Amino acid sequence: MNGKAATLVFPAVNQVAFAYLTAAKHRGEETVCAASVACDEIAAEGGTLYRLPTIYDADFPRQLLSLVAEHGIGRILCPLATVHDFMGRFIAERNLELKLIGQSPIRQQVEQHQQLMARAKRLFPFVQLCADGAPCISALETAGVLRQASLIYGESNDDKLAAMMGVFSTAPAGDVVEIGSLMGRTAFVLLYLAKRHKIGAVLTIDPWMLGEATQHDAPVSIQSLSGDWDFEVLSEGFHVNMVPFSDERHAHLRLTSAAAYEVYCTDQAICCTTTGTPVNYAQKIAVIHIDGNHDYESVKKDCELWLCKMLPGSWLILDDYIWAHGDGPYRVGNEFLAEQSERVANAFVCGGALFIKFR
Ligand SMILES: C[S@@+](CC[C@H](N)C(=O)[O-])C[C@H]1O[C@@H](n2cnc3c(N)ncnc32)[C@H](O)[C@@H]1O
Repeated sequence: MNGKAATLVFPAVNQVAFAYLTAAKHRGEETVCAASVACDEIAAEGGTLYRLPTIYDADFPRQLLSLVAEHGIGRILCPLATVHDFMGRFIAERNLELKLIGQSPIRQQVEQHQQLMARAKRLFPFVQLCADGAPCISALETAGVLRQASLIYGESNDDKLAAMMGVFSTAPAGDVVEIGSLMGRTAFVLLYLAKRHKIGAVLTIDPWMLGEATQHDAPVSIQSLSGDWDFEVLSEGFHVNMVPFSDERHAHLRLTSAAAYEVYCTDQAICCTTTGTPVNYAQKIAVIHIDGNHDYESVKKDCELWLCKMLPGSWLILDDYIWAHGDGPYRVGNEFLAEQSERVANAFVCGGALFIKFR
């Protein structure tokens, strides 16, 4: 069997099959789809959807082998555990020149879970360290937060998320604010932790607008990346990602940080996106994550506006303090540490972000 043989996806009926077909198309791999039931979505992605009877049908072997011969099939992906198991034995018993791709879906689940728990156990002592002796979330919750966060596109790494999980243990009661949410990876983490530690209401802010997203201090290649986004997809994607976590204590302002600050400081109602009811903000901040435009002037403005609202014992998380593409957050962070050291109780750098605890 040569390396150019087609791959049969059977049964092509679920999201695993769909994802395989999409990836195969991008790498130029020839695929053939088959199933015992109709699936319009797969047929549209994979071209023709051939019918095969179920694996229990007496005619299944004949029909499968005829499809294999007709299309020069050399590999089979079975995205259902029962069929994967059946096909492994079918190929071995008949000594067929067919390669069953990958592990059983059950084995994959077991391994993925074990890998996640290993990640969480590695990070958990750091979560505890950042909690500084205060009651903190468990290793199991650490794994849960990592898992959900990984499902949402974002730019924050495990180490930064672990530090966030820890510092919430010592945050006072007050508002939790995020400037720059993208698709919501860190917004989810903030929402979970605010609720878990009974900190307060969450305000996320992102204008999802090309003019604002472009970072003029960064190299041209980074500036042009902003244009790759469809900003309506970003907005819709964020809200879809927040559905399981957002409640009447969360609102999003699709505004720049400066315009959002005006709204936050006045008596204008800021309404929960899901219920439409006004969210009660304390107008005092317990945790702020500044992760908007990273140009020096933008970060400086974010800090000038919002940091006067910080409560004693509150946390500032300044993202990308260490950043390969520019030094806006680094310069602003250093200026703050130098000029306002009397306000700083504690500071550390983790996962590229600067964490500052206010006195
Ligand atoms: C680095 S991404 C945020 C990543 C997100 N916090 C995460 O970790 O998943 C930066 C975001 O800041 C937003 N942004 C740019 N300018 C902004 C501004 N003036 N105010 C608020 N958000 C802004 C962009 O639209 C973009 O979605």
